Amino acid sequence: MHYLPANTRYDNMTYRRCGRSGLQLPAVTLGLWYNFGGVDSLENGRSMIHRAFDLGITHFDLANNYGPPPGSAEENFGRILAKDLKRYRDELIISSKAGYRMWPGPYGEWGSRKYLVASLDQSLKRMGLEYVDIFYSHRPDPNTPLEETLGALDFIVRSGRALYAGISTYSPEQTRQAAAILRDLGTPCLIHQPRYNMFDRWIEDGLLDVLDEEGIGCIGFSPLCQGILTDKYLNAVPEDSRAAKIDGAFHWGDSVSADRIAKVRQLNQLAQARGQTMAQMAIAWVLRHDTMTSALIGASKVSQVEEAVAALDNLAFSDEELATIEAILAE
Ligand SMILES: NC(=O)c1ccc[n+]([C@@H]2O[C@H](COP(=O)([O-])OP(=O)(O)OC[C@H]3O[C@@H](n4cnc5c(N)ncnc54)[C@H](OP(=O)(O)O)[C@@H]3O)[C@@H](O)[C@H]2O)c1
Repeated sequence: MHYLPANTRYDNMTYRRCGRSGLQLPAVTLGLWYNFGGVDSLENGRSMIHRAFDLGITHFDLANNYGPPPGSAEENFGRILAKDLKRYRDELIISSKAGYRMWPGPYGEWGSRKYLVASLDQSLKRMGLEYVDIFYSHRPDPNTPLEETLGALDFIVRSGRALYAGISTYSPEQTRQAAAILRDLGTPCLIHQPRYNMFDRWIEDGLLDVLDEEGIGCIGFSPLCQGILTDKYLNAVPEDSRAAKIDGAFHWGDSVSADRIAKVRQLNQLAQARGQTMAQMAIAWVLRHDTMTSALIGASKVSQVEEAVAALDNLAFSDEELATIEAILAE
């Protein structure tokens, strides 16, 4: 079926300025880490992307290794773009990354110029694009000088392969150094992509301050802690959940533990009192920082995309609500 985007797509979405740049991003971004790969239904992925764009989500986040198999999310996204969204390329912010293992040998991962440039060229081919909007160093490389990794990002922007440069999971200190190097090169660091949710708050310990001072935007990934910060695991592990479906999918030590579920049960009551679902309160909570440009969600169903966007209807927290959340998380 032919896809025509909704005329209302810009009516309700909130857009936030990315740091001190000229670029605005939707407060909710859709990531294609899972559910868009070769093992997944292309039609379901296509429906989620259509619905997202119809709701004003202009930003889609990818990486070389998303799938599985690695690369297949970019291939599928390329198919969907070619079929449905080609005419709307200038309304889209498409990002990709390199850092994790993508091909065998010493040039298939980490942060060398050799790997980053080759990987982005592969990503562009898979997606059928001339350029991505944002290209990230996916993780800091302890064995490559920051100057080389960031010099590669500067080259990538200057050569027209990307419009902006970003970094992901860099520590506060590495971020400060990266910002200085990129500024000297004349390609400012647009954005940092760290993990951030109620169960993983490391960015509150210095990173947000650095981003604020340097004028770098922030897009927090896994705001739902991969689905744990929703009502889905409150009674059991459903068969169609990430925890049940994807062996080893839960990274960063995430697990559907009794302790976490007990907390989510209490948080869920507060969410209901706010007139929100648990997922919506978790997204709103991530977006409570002025420095947070966008909440980078994942989804396996169209309804999850809709639920996430509706979180933007209530982003305000009273001091009392924030204190209640702190008390529950500290238990
Ligand atoms: N930079 C990095 O190193 C890095 C690392 C990881 C991710 N990321 C980015 O961040 C994006 C999001 O990561 P994530 O998928 O972990 O994010 P998330 O939003 O924390 O989790 C998404 C998952 O939660 C479940 N879910 C979503 N909405 C729900 C709802 N309303 N009710 C019940 N369950 C719901 C779905 O899983 P089910 O299958 O259970 O339905 C969905 O796939 C990725 O796609 C990627 O772009 C970046």
